[in-house]
Amino acid sequence: MLLSSFPAVRLRRLRYEPAMRRLVRETVLSPEHFILPLFVRSGKGIRQAIPSMPNHFQLSIDELVLEAEQAVSLGLGGIILFGIPETKDSIGSDAMSETGIMAHAVRAVKQTVGNKLLVITDLCFCEYTDHGHCGVLNEKPDGGFEVDNDATLENLVRQALVHARSGADMLAPSGMMDGMVRALRSGLDREGFSQIPIMSYAAKYASAFYGPFREAAESCPQFGNRNSYQMDPSAAAGQAIREVQLDLEEGADIVMVKPALAYLDIIRSVRNRFEGVPIAAYNVSGEYSMVKAAAEKGWIDEKTIVLESMTAITRAGANIILTYWAKNLAQWL
Ligand code: PBG
Repeated sequence: MLLSSFPAVRLRRLRYEPAMRRLVRETVLSPEHFILPLFVRSGKGIRQAIPSMPNHFQLSIDELVLEAEQAVSLGLGGIILFGIPETKDSIGSDAMSETGIMAHAVRAVKQTVGNKLLVITDLCFCEYTDHGHCGVLNEKPDGGFEVDNDATLENLVRQALVHARSGADMLAPSGMMDGMVRALRSGLDREGFSQIPIMSYAAKYASAFYGPFREAAESCPQFGNRNSYQMDPSAAAGQAIREVQLDLEEGADIVMVKPALAYLDIIRSVRNRFEGVPIAAYNVSGEYSMVKAAAEKGWIDEKTIVLESMTAITRAGANIILTYWAKNLAQWL
């Protein structure tokens, strides 16, 4: 007879001693799986605080380089860069310019860190357009607007080539345009960059959790919202599976689910469907700000909550986490 119940079975036996708990621990976190998002702008010696995101700053390139060096010494997996251009226009020209903010920033960082740190770049236009949308706009007959998917793809390739020529190690398209991975993959391959991986924001939801980021990156839509390109939070997991499947077929190397904590079910569904595919989860700005605000009030313990959250995201099936706590995590672990 199987001894399958109390008192023969006592699940607490493996919980009494710290050493025993450590032995049987299943979800283990480590710094090399964390990616730190950083915001870069022009100027010198600038560390401009982002009020809704304590400990995060808009950094000039010299300051960005110092952060990158810290990321190396902490053993982080990488950094992901978001550019804030000096001037914006209707198509986001700065993003496609060899003298734009990202071209300069990526070059400077790579010159310093070499191959000791992965420098990932976010590919999107919302930070670069004066209207704050993620691509080229078309006016509709009724006076409204739409983001022109296919025209945006052409610009995305231009942006990608600027990043690739500057030395970016991996490109991360976040605009939720249909066909973006295919367009990027063939554009990169054509120019001799077939070895640069694409980490696609594959299942990215139209989420209110991005609020603080839009302050940080100065990328708030000036009118309307992003509901016609980002996913509806009410969509069943199957839609995320389709997005991921398509991106993989188009050549994505890593797929991302974003945000993380409110979408653990999606991470798990993607993991169940695709064994052996690296899954990244973006623990986004709003998730960061909420914990920071509560911790400042003394209502929660920041470190414990963050470690528990990262464990949850990993347990759900993510192998890579983009988080504003990446540096803290490396120190805590
Ligand atoms: C660009 C982009 C956004 C985020 C990452 N890339 C903002 C958005 O889609 O509005 C959000 C990251 C965060 O909230 O931390 N499209």
